[in-house]
Amino acid sequence: MWYIYAFLLGFLPAGTPLILKNDVGRLPALGWNSWNAYHCEITESQFTTAAEKLVELGLKDVGYEYVNIDDCWQIKDRRDEKTKRLIPDPTRFPDGIKGTADKIHKLGLKIGIYSSAGTLTCAGYQASLGYESIDAATWSEWEIDYLKYDNCNVPNNWTDSCRGCVPENRGDLRNGTCTNPDGMCPAGYDYSKSLTAERFRIMRDAIVAQPRTMLYSLCEWGEAGVQQWGNDTGSSWRMSGDINPSWRRVVQILNQNSFYLNNVDFWGHSDADMLEVGNGLSVQESRSHFALWAAMKSPLLIGTDLARIASDQLEILKNKYLIAFNQDQVVGKPAKPYKWGTNPDWTFNETFPAEFWSGASTKGTLVLMFNPYGETRTKTADFNEIPELEGGGSYQVTDVWAGKDLGCVDGKLDVDVQGHDTAALLVGQKCGYGRKMIRGLKFFGDW
Ligand SMILES: *[C@@H]1O[C@H](CO)[C@@H](O)[C@H](O)[C@H]1NC(C)=O
Ligand SMILES: *[C@@H]1O[C@H](CO)[C@@H](O)[C@H](O)[C@H]1NC(C)=O
Ligand SMILES: *[C@@H]1O[C@H](CO)[C@@H](O)[C@H](O)[C@H]1NC(C)=O
Ligand SMILES: *[C@@H]1O[C@H](CO)[C@@H](O)[C@H](O)[C@H]1NC(C)=O
Repeated sequence: MWYIYAFLLGFLPAGTPLILKNDVGRLPALGWNSWNAYHCEITESQFTTAAEKLVELGLKDVGYEYVNIDDCWQIKDRRDEKTKRLIPDPTRFPDGIKGTADKIHKLGLKIGIYSSAGTLTCAGYQASLGYESIDAATWSEWEIDYLKYDNCNVPNNWTDSCRGCVPENRGDLRNGTCTNPDGMCPAGYDYSKSLTAERFRIMRDAIVAQPRTMLYSLCEWGEAGVQQWGNDTGSSWRMSGDINPSWRRVVQILNQNSFYLNNVDFWGHSDADMLEVGNGLSVQESRSHFALWAAMKSPLLIGTDLARIASDQLEILKNKYLIAFNQDQVVGKPAKPYKWGTNPDWTFNETFPAEFWSGASTKGTLVLMFNPYGETRTKTADFNEIPELEGGGSYQVTDVWAGKDLGCVDGKLDVDVQGHDTAALLVGQKCGYGRKMIRGLKFFGDW
């Protein structure tokens, strides 16, 4: 038997989204998280350094605001005997999490914390299932602003008897059709009724019951049809397993998330996982990773040691055009593929995903051309093919990487895109009279 992805059926049950005060969670979160840089080896100084660097390097000025503690911040094997509260590790956080929060807040930034909807976190530390109200109240008291809630160590009686079709776990999947349905839920299954959805809702209710506004970020890995209930439950939801600093993994996640973009709008963001920019990807690869994550309106959480980041990688994270697209106050929908390129449209392929992307924004149409090959390829942005451009014509074009006005471009633009790189163009107004037109311009930029 074959099961079709809900996303290809094109409709989802409408719910009441999680709307928080002060527009928290309306746009994708911007910030920094410890996991990709340090995993479990954390101490307070890494967070205060990250916060200082966000300020010093101008990242706060362009919108990065959260400094998020990931796994391993608490005493591993016990809660406080009397209060049942989680206990911050006194070696890693000598002033408690509240002490760290004060230091982060003093810099005008916000602080995030981490737990799991199981008995233990992924690294085996005390977690929140059954203690949701106590933990949410504790974090609120510590003046926490953000919770990342993971999905590890779920006891049997909270484990669903069937699962959604997750491409990366199921392997063989073509054109959105799951071909390995072992243990999968039947077609038409309502995932909002799953035990997984319930575990994440219990924490949502505990969080919104607190006097403090905390952004709620679901880290459920996309396994229990989170596309159906994520918007009602959290501000963002992970759609895959973890990223790692390899090009192959970045492209795999890009391919998967490209099929989930109809579910993204204000208040609800498909989270393609934290950034690996600065962790060994080439400049070209980092540009593709960042541009596409920004375009998909994923949360953008830096995951590298900012005290050592190379200036060319830092400039990518600060790209004002891409951040403006990701954080657009008026347009909530992400960019989407308008053409796959190497493969036929709608092909699910882990190494050759969609290559041609576009999306509307208040500043113009963002056009991305991704080169999955190892060597330079010429890619053509044909205005007739771009849905936002209403049938071609001549437009003002800006090169998003160079920040350079390319003038008025007629009909199409050829760009030589280096291996693994992504050309990024902002297509603005139709050209007015009296402007010089560059016919058949071939642009050789340092993309
Ligand atoms: C699982 O067992 C725990 C402990 O007995 C109980 O509190 C919880 O309600 C159970 N969960 C479900 C979904 O029945
Ligand atoms: C793949 O899926 C798309 C979208 O549902 C559909 O239009 C197309 O015909 C399918 N292609 C094949 C080869 O099945
Ligand atoms: C989430 O809810 C908001 C507010 O109703 C809506 O604008 C948005 O489109 C919803 N997102 C999804 C993914 O359904
Ligand atoms: C992915 O696409 C490439 C390019 O068309 C093709 O060579 C490769 O076989 C595809 N991979 C799979 C698993 O189908």
